[in-house]
Amino acid sequence: MADQAEKLRDMVDKKKKADKTHKVIAVTSGKGGVGKTNIVVNMAMLLSGIGKKVVVFDADLGLANVDILLGIKTKYSLIDVIKSGKKMSEIMIKVNDNLSIIPAGNGVEDIANINEPSFNKVKDELRSVVKDIDILLVDTGAGISRKVTFFLKSSEDIIVVATPEPTSIADAYAMIKIMFLNYKKENIKIFVNMAKNENEAVSVYENINKICKNFLKKEFKSAGFALYDKKLPLCVREQKAISEIAPDGKFSVSMKKMINNIFKENVKIYDNPVKRFFSSIFGG
Ligand SMILES: Nc1ncnc2c1ncn2[C@@H]1O[C@H](COP(=O)(O)OP(=O)(O)OP(=O)(O)O)[C@@H](O)[C@H]1O
Ligand SMILES: [Mg+2]
Repeated sequence: MADQAEKLRDMVDKKKKADKTHKVIAVTSGKGGVGKTNIVVNMAMLLSGIGKKVVVFDADLGLANVDILLGIKTKYSLIDVIKSGKKMSEIMIKVNDNLSIIPAGNGVEDIANINEPSFNKVKDELRSVVKDIDILLVDTGAGISRKVTFFLKSSEDIIVVATPEPTSIADAYAMIKIMFLNYKKENIKIFVNMAKNENEAVSVYENINKICKNFLKKEFKSAGFALYDKKLPLCVREQKAISEIAPDGKFSVSMKKMINNIFKENVKIYDNPVKRFFSSIFGG
């Protein structure tokens, strides 16, 4: 009897350990300036707010932005891991109890041209810090360059962000094609940002997916969408995460829906009961 109880406890412990394995999600795009960094930062704030242990890895080498968006001053960055042998844990910055960021370093020209051994060193260091976390969010640069594809190759899930602009749609497809054909990535999701309304977001998603279906014979799931929110550029200027400043605003609500969709969480969509009331009557 005691034996059986022990076996059961072992099984539960093993299951708990398996559940604890982190998820690596990279947010990327074909075209630049589509909202990747804002999406990553606000996903991170919201996920950490529901108790998930999150690390944001700013992989936009040479053009890093995550620290700037959060108004955080950094002393060290990835360049110190690569060049001066610092540990990843030494350069990480704690934003709150559940969230830390790994800054990439700004305006450092040669960091964008790092070689394969340096990339691998970064990868090894990353492995050491993500052991005990739930989610590693990777903010990559835009476009298909080696420094972007390196990080995408190592991510379990990839979210490709597109906006309704035709150039962004074409570039999102180009990114998906490379990831799918060259790197055999199947776990790609499409996120539409800066849409006028839900109809426009759905049509952009369907448009990209139709191109994928025609040319790659493969369809990809939607990660959700975010509406254009005029408050967002103001928060960027203030260096504050919009999900903190305007949790019931269009962008924050979209982010919460995205988290519920991807992580099967149950984040409360509206903080304000009046907004919740109107949304239940009028939808949205
Ligand atoms: N849903 C939105 N509504 C309004 N403005 C937005 C929205 N999403 C992003 N923006 C604005 O677009 C600009 C670019 O956003 P962001 O820096 O997050 O893009 P990015 O894809 O990370 O850019 P890069 O490719 O340069 O790294 C910012 O000024 C931000 O305020
Ligand atoms: Mg960015």
